[in-house]
Amino acid sequence: AEPWLVVPAAGRGRRMGADRPKQYLTLAGRPVLAHTLARLHAAFPAARLCLCLDPDDAWFDPAWVPFADWRWVAGGAERADSVANALAAIADEAREDDLVLVHDVARPCVALDDLRRLKQALDDDLVGGLLAAPVADTMKRDDGAGRVAATEPRDGLWHALTPQGFRHGLLARALAAAADAGVAVTDEASAVEALGEAPLLVPGRRDNLKITHPEDLALAGLILAAQAS
Ligand code: C5P
Repeated sequence: AEPWLVVPAAGRGRRMGADRPKQYLTLAGRPVLAHTLARLHAAFPAARLCLCLDPDDAWFDPAWVPFADWRWVAGGAERADSVANALAAIADEAREDDLVLVHDVARPCVALDDLRRLKQALDDDLVGGLLAAPVADTMKRDDGAGRVAATEPRDGLWHALTPQGFRHGLLARALAAAADAGVAVTDEASAVEALGEAPLLVPGRRDNLKITHPEDLALAGLILAAQAS
């Protein structure tokens, strides 16, 4: 069965310092959001999509959505609130054990092969999991004053990427529990981990960049060009 797709796109992208949210910046001739949705559509053409948007968003154009079956919901204060809103919006249609893949709109370079392998790895997994890449750099912890307090062993450390995929029921419970506990979660997996579950790490490509800072846009352009050649 095709998965549900949830794409949080309600962020304002303040770290970019641009005139518009980063999902609407132009990358290789098209907005970032259009690239991201096209990638997801290529891998899962019959999936049902729920987009999280800022209701005050003046940039969004539905012509960028290639899915036949899609809806949008208002985002929340934080990314996790946006995702929780999406899960609530599809709760009437989605079954408790339907797989939901959550993918950041700011990751337009996710490879088709990674999307397919993630879905395959999660199809029969009761917990769920995420694309992740092993950390390559040596990791330092600061002392709060700009100096190194400690070097963290990088063995066994991974970058958490997206998509992250979980069963609708489990993910909705996990996000509700995190919200009730007042715990800020920056990804789906950490909410599920807080329930005592161990999400599956599915090795993914390191060029699945999250556009965050201004220089990332040029980098994403190079990655897309390299992937196309
Ligand atoms: O800001 P950051 O890059 O961590 O945001 C990750 C993703 O979550 C982005 O796709 C952003 O649009 C989305 N987001 C959201 N609702 C928020 C904050 C972020 O949908 N309140």
